[in-house]
Amino acid sequence: MCGIVGYVGERSALDVVMGGLRRLEYRGYDSGGVALINDGKITSAKKAGKLVNLDKELQAHPLPLSHTGIGHTRWATHGAPNDRNAHPHLDADGRIAVVHNGIIENFAELRAKLEAAGHEMLSDTDTETVAHLLHDELLHTPDLSDAVRAVCLQLEGAFTLVIADANHPDVVVGARRNSPLVVGRGKGENFLGSDVSAFIDYTRDAIELGQDQVVTITPEDIVVTDFHGNQVETRDYHVDWDVSAAEKGGYDWFMLKEIAEQPQAVADTLLGRYSAEGSLQLDEMRLSDEELREVDKIIVIACGTAMYAGLVAKYAIEHWTRIPCEVELASEFRYRDPIIDRSTLVVAISQSGETMDTLMAVRYAREQHARVLSICNTNGSTIPRESDAVIYTHAGPEVAVASTKGFLSQIVACYLLGLYLAQVRGMKYGDEIARIMTQLEQLPEAIQRMLDEGEHVRELARELSASKSILFLGRHAGYPVALEGALKLKELAYIHAEGFAAGELKHGPIALIEDGLPVFVVVPPKGRDQLRDKVVSNIQEVRARGALTIVLAEDDDEEVAKYADRLIRLPKVPTLFQPLVATVPLQIFACEFAAELGHDVDQPRNLAKSVTVE
Ligand code: M6R
Repeated sequence: MCGIVGYVGERSALDVVMGGLRRLEYRGYDSGGVALINDGKITSAKKAGKLVNLDKELQAHPLPLSHTGIGHTRWATHGAPNDRNAHPHLDADGRIAVVHNGIIENFAELRAKLEAAGHEMLSDTDTETVAHLLHDELLHTPDLSDAVRAVCLQLEGAFTLVIADANHPDVVVGARRNSPLVVGRGKGENFLGSDVSAFIDYTRDAIELGQDQVVTITPEDIVVTDFHGNQVETRDYHVDWDVSAAEKGGYDWFMLKEIAEQPQAVADTLLGRYSAEGSLQLDEMRLSDEELREVDKIIVIACGTAMYAGLVAKYAIEHWTRIPCEVELASEFRYRDPIIDRSTLVVAISQSGETMDTLMAVRYAREQHARVLSICNTNGSTIPRESDAVIYTHAGPEVAVASTKGFLSQIVACYLLGLYLAQVRGMKYGDEIARIMTQLEQLPEAIQRMLDEGEHVRELARELSASKSILFLGRHAGYPVALEGALKLKELAYIHAEGFAAGELKHGPIALIEDGLPVFVVVPPKGRDQLRDKVVSNIQEVRARGALTIVLAEDDDEEVAKYADRLIRLPKVPTLFQPLVATVPLQIFACEFAAELGHDVDQPRNLAKSVTVE
């Protein structure tokens, strides 16, 4: 939700800021804007819509060269997505420029006070109040950072702020509560960004910014304090991927590139976890084996696709560890008074590590004394920082709004967690773990095969692209695959798509079936005969009512082919691992379907990659 950039140094600030915004556009694309300091004045430009509109505006009305600047790409919360509400917002004198990510919950009250004192607001945003509050603060506080701290103490809610002041031409100040902000350390230049991709072209050295902290960057210096001005220790880290990972690399869409990267993402997430001595090692595990032996319940919390990864995980974790495992939407979790205590392990899954619903659920779980382990793809992000332990997925940056390699690598990390728990609790012998690890290590090859056979699925997507509704059915670990297939199609193609547990169909949804309705069915492997036979019956039930069945079944499952109007073959893998291969064609299908309809695959309407508001 909203991408933010700040820069001070020798380069053209406009080039750096616009480059950063392009990389952050996945976070929101309702409007874009920049503000630069030049000759003791702020100059700015902003435009509704994608950054291409801002580019055109800047070509038509170029801004003077500057070496200090800030920028914003917006996912609208307060106020319509138009030019007027686009960031940056300025104070009445045009001296202060502010960009913001998050929601200032007490903005109505603050705005009323400011208006009563004679401030005229030009937008409907919560952000503009910050510019006016800073204006008033700077009347009696000469230092910009002091003024920012004083204003932050008046704000409630979630905010990342980045601020430029015409009277402080070599300074940019950032502040954060709940929403993300990272600092890029350069030589003779420094950067701020919602994530490291904002400045990855220039530096891979970053600093984590903690909760309720203010950072002041100049070309030579980075100073971090709390909201009361006390200097705080920071943690530096080095980003282990480079600029090419954040680019399309010849693909039409980031999503296509990220789908293609899945064998590598799975292999990298498994890499180095299994020692030569034959035991599993999760290096980032900051919970002792003793603590893990005390766990008597697991609750997985996550949103969207990450939550579906949790649904897959439940089958493996319960099977291997015999610990009861619940999976819950993070946005619902803390509102139902869940029964948790010190022996509950809460597993928070989040690709970005910044999803607000998940973060709030993590905080709630810790308040209730549960142990929290996060599974995350973003080093230094808030959720792992606030967890007791973390297993990082090594999928590399995921830019497309629709999560793909994030999903597969989250499932793999959950498997590793399940096996680790089984190991420390003595539920599996070493040779059993070794056998399962070998099966896991074969998965990248099986996933690659699904990619190699993708053209068949793309053809199918083009053939069905006039469909207005598509259903997805699965059972057991195939059920979350059905949910994920439907979510991908909804978010990219904007059509009705629903995933159901195949057995549930006869309890209502079967009424949706009509002549020609495409229905995808994920068939469990043949080894699971009881389960598989039930799904085969479900295929016949929908077919008898006119559905067009698209069946995903194992290579040698000849019987099921009879009931398939279209067949997608899956390599033979254990039932618990089937989601890793069965999801791939559904991702390819949704991507091609949306492209065929002329939609922007990477930036679907109304969405943003990181959902940093509740
Ligand atoms: O960054 P997170 O994994 O926490 O994100 C969770 C969801 O917002 C995300 O998976 C969303 O559902 C995707 N757009 C789905 O493709």
